[in-house]
Amino acid sequence: MHIATQVRLDTYNTFGVLCQADRLVRVSQINELDGLRHANIFAAPHLILGGGSNVLFRSRFEGTVILNRLEGKQVVGSLGSNHIIVQFGAGERWHECVKWCIDQGFGGIENLALIPGTAGAAPLQNIGAYGVEIKDVFHSLDAYEKSTGQIHVFERESCAFGYRESVFKGSLRNRFLITAVRLMLTSGQHQLRLDYGDIQRVLAQENVAHPTIAHVAKAVESIRREKLPDPAYLGNAGSFFKNPIVAKGLADKLLQTNPTMPVYESGHDGGLRKLAAGWLIEQCGWKGKRVGQVGVHDRQALVIVNYGGATGEEIWALAQQVQASVRQRFGILLEPEVNIL
Ligand code: FAD
Ligand code: EPU
Repeated sequence: MHIATQVRLDTYNTFGVLCQADRLVRVSQINELDGLRHANIFAAPHLILGGGSNVLFRSRFEGTVILNRLEGKQVVGSLGSNHIIVQFGAGERWHECVKWCIDQGFGGIENLALIPGTAGAAPLQNIGAYGVEIKDVFHSLDAYEKSTGQIHVFERESCAFGYRESVFKGSLRNRFLITAVRLMLTSGQHQLRLDYGDIQRVLAQENVAHPTIAHVAKAVESIRREKLPDPAYLGNAGSFFKNPIVAKGLADKLLQTNPTMPVYESGHDGGLRKLAAGWLIEQCGWKGKRVGQVGVHDRQALVIVNYGGATGEEIWALAQQVQASVRQRFGILLEPEVNIL
């Protein structure tokens, strides 16, 4: 196991923020985690990093970055004639897992195509897009307990999944390193989810009358490319903030003065509504605005971009200005989705 020192992190975070870490170690075998534990790495400041697509380094990382590169994609079981269980090593790239499933004819995650990052980070914030969240197909995961070295199995109920939430961001924060993720997918008779407006529009444009899982993934990829900047060309971490969930009463009040405001159902009790943070930010005049090397994306106001050379502090400063505007105009505090370090 090689531990590098004084390592540049710009290629390890999709914001492309230039900063350094004291140490960096790449883990590709589970038994290497015991080595780190015995070297007391987990007892000192450290950060588990997958693709770095949901983090913002505000400054130098004074500790050890542990790059998760645990590999593997395999079928590990079946349920009845129509369901299989697949397992991904936590360091596998999520989009490669989606493509692999489509090639094998396994359905369930085609709507989650093109989300950057690793399979292991996906349950952490219960990734979601185009009407599907990973929790919908989640079977279980393996997680290494840093203090004891034991592997624990978490089934869906014990993960406490919510909108961009899980137990690993909540009460079990920082206690585990997720090593493998299992999903229950369909091997035939796929239940396509096409209800997210734009998917049907794109399928119709392409004259696809009988969509397959591959068609759905392709449609999702094309919608995403229209709106979201590719971090290979423009640094970003996807949505910077979560969409706010508010009481129905507040949503109704805001609708009186903002009749075009998008409002979505949230949860099952009927008392909550989800608002579109991108819309709120756009109304405050931020869309396409640039301050130095940082800006609000011109096609998706929920995405903050690094035009090149911005520091984490500059990005955070703009995010805070956006947050303050939305709070002043709508009385709503936007909560970052990105993990601020
Ligand atoms: P990282 O950024 O490396 O880590 C994120 C957090 O998870 C950190 O706190 C880290 O310590 C922790 N972590 C990472 N791996 C592990 C592990 N194995 N065990 C324990 N903790 C771990 N997200 C969505 O939900 N939907 C979208 O549609 C979406 N679109 C995006 C589009 C773009 C262009 C970008 C840049 C990001 C987008 N995201 C989206 C956000 C991001 O891709 C996801 O949150 C992704 O799951 C992060 O994976 P990662 O490996 O890059 O995590
Ligand atoms: N909108 C605007 N202006 C904007 C952006 C959005 O008015 O600049 C409006 C849109 O017109 C639409 C609504 O807001 O009425 C929602 O917009 P969109 O469908 O683009 O999705 P979003 O709510 O902004 C969420 C996720 C994305 C995910 C998409 C697709 C969050 C925080 N973000 O974005 O996830 O890909 O839906 O399902 O929930 C991420 O988490 O990083 C991410 C990119």
